[in-house]
Formats: sequence, C-alpha cells, structure tokens
Amino acid sequence: MKRRLMVTGADGFVAGSILGQADETWEISALALNEVPYQRPGLDWQVFDMRGTERLRSVFKDARPEAVIHTAAMADIDFCEEHKDIAEAVNVGVTREVARLCREHGAKMIFLSTDTVFDGTKGMYAESDCPGPLNFYAETKVRAEQAVQEEAGAWIITRLSLVMGLPVIGAGNSFLAKTIAALKAGREVGFPDEEIRTPVDVITLGRAFLELAAGDFTGYLHLAGCDRLNRFAMAQHIAERLGFSRDLVHVKNPSAIPGRAPRPRDASLDNRKARATLATPMRTLDEALDLVLAEK
Ligand SMILES: NC(=O)c1ccc[n+]([C@@H]2O[C@H](COP(=O)([O-])OP(=O)(O)OC[C@H]3O[C@@H](n4cnc5c(N)ncnc54)[C@H](OP(=O)(O)O)[C@@H]3O)[C@@H](O)[C@H]2O)c1
Repeated sequence: MKRRLMVTGADGFVAGSILGQADETWEISALALNEVPYQRPGLDWQVFDMRGTERLRSVFKDARPEAVIHTAAMADIDFCEEHKDIAEAVNVGVTREVARLCREHGAKMIFLSTDTVFDGTKGMYAESDCPGPLNFYAETKVRAEQAVQEEAGAWIITRLSLVMGLPVIGAGNSFLAKTIAALKAGREVGFPDEEIRTPVDVITLGRAFLELAAGDFTGYLHLAGCDRLNRFAMAQHIAERLGFSRDLVHVKNPSAIPGRAPRPRDASLDNRKARATLATPMRTLDEALDLVLAEK
C-alpha cells in the first residue's frame, strides 16, 4: 500500500532533497510554482501559485494526502522586508489555508519554520523558548506557526537552522554552491562573523522530513546540526575542507550591506529533542559536508 504525501514548494531547495530521496513507497503530489524537469513513477506535479485557493482545494481533493510537508514560502529575508504584502500572503495566508485543508482532509501538517524566529540574545534555543522576531520574514513565520496550531489537526512545526548543501533537484538557493563557484574562480567571499548558527545539511533534512511524515511524532522540533559557529568561521572551514585557501574568505560587516534586514546575533538551535526523537542522525559540519559532497 502506497503512502500519500504532498510536498509544497516542490521546486525549492529543501523540497528537492525530500523528493530526490523518497522511495517508491511514497505517492507524491508535488506542488510547485515553476516547472521542474524531474519525473518518476508515483510523482504528480501540479504547477500553480498557491495563493489561488480554489486550485489548492481541488488539488487536495484529488491527492487526499496523509501528510503534507509545507515548504513553500518567500524565504529571502531582505525580499520579505521590502515586499511585506507578498511575504504576508505567502508565508501566513497560504500556510493558514494549507493548515485548514489538512484538517478537512485528516492530513498531518509538517511546517517549516526558522531559527530566525528568535531574537538571538541567548543562543542554543530549545523548542520551549519564546520567539522574538527581529525582521518581517521572522514575524511572518511566527504568525504562520500560530496559524498551524489554530487550524491544523495533527501538526509538526519544525524550526530549521541555516540549510547547507547542494541542490538535489532543480537549482535551489544554495550558499554552498555559490561559495564553491566563487572559490573555484579564485574570487574572495565575505560572510559576517557576528551571526551564529547551527547549520544543518539538506540531505539530512530530506531524510528527517520523510521520517516525520511516516511516523507518529507531533509538536515542535528543532532541526539543526551539532556544531555552533558563525557564518565567517563556517565559510573558512568549508574553504579549507575543499582545498582552497582560508585567505579567500573575509569578514563582511552586515551593516555595510544596503537594504539588509536585521538578523539575530546567535540563532543557534538546541537539537537534543531531534536527536532523541529521530532515527535520522543530526550531524557535525564535517559529517554534513561528507554527506552533501558524496551525494553529488
Ligand atoms: N534555506 C534555509 O537556510 C532555511 C532556513 C530556515 C528555514 N527555512 C524554511 O524552509 C523552507 C524551505 O526553504 P528553501 O531554502 O527550500 O526555500 P526555497 O528554495 O525558496 O523554496 C521555497 C519554494 O516555495 C516557492 N513558492 C514561493 N511562493 C509560492 C507561491 N505563491 N506558490 C507556490 N510556491 C511558492 C518558491 O518558488 P520561487 O523560488 O519561484 O519563489 C520556492 O520554490 C521555507 O519555508 C523556509 O522559510 C529555510
């Protein structure tokens, strides 16, 4: 018997890893804004803007998903700050509608929120810590989390740390791919040294989401790696690991970047609950790099 899964934002970075790793026991309804040239048996693409409620309703009715992994979002922090109407409509409005449809169809909703819901004054945030968003993107994610709790029946709200990896399907917005391309071309790359994260790799995330879709867990879960470091140190580590000079990586002062929305100083996440809950292991940065580079 096949299990029915819906993945939204299916042309995105994280969703590509879910789709690429799902075996054929999954019948997948993949909702995307753009066409993706990837096909396999049991995968049904539906290409449309999710802000159109009627189409979304009819896709749910046809697909009858048992679980929905809702990755679709406006995920660019600075874009959201400049385009608040679009960010609100997609990140909050669409999420609320997906949550309602999940309840109507008895589907478990798995939502992707972010480490940046926290204000960054404390670091190593646990699931029970209170959000304190510093930018509009994070505000929409906090409102979306509330909408999921209010509207969905069974739900999982995951908060992801910075996602690291290479696109599995499609292009994806990968800072690792951009960093490797720049370093290969001998170009310098700059990253802030005051933004601390617990990076998680995209392959591990794909596995974790499939495990959550198949399992019984409900509630909040932080999906994060085991190393806590700033973005500059992370880039230096990656450069060295790939055989490039650390000197190609320099510190970039975020306040010198025009139009950059505020970010939390230390948005690191405590992953102890994920490690206790999931069979999928959370990884160190080196283990994560091994995994994403081996998969290419
Ligand atoms: N990547 C990270 O470091 C990170 C960290 C924390 C949390 N997250 C969260 O994790 C989720 C996945 O992130 P990601 O990196 O995979 O982002 P992504 O690559 O931008 O994927 C999101 C997808 O949603 C699509 N989308 C946007 N508006 C839509 C609409 N109106 N209708 C249908 N689809 C729409 C996007 O299409 P377009 O590309 O055409 O806009 C994109 O394909 C997001 O919810 C994000 O907020 C990501």
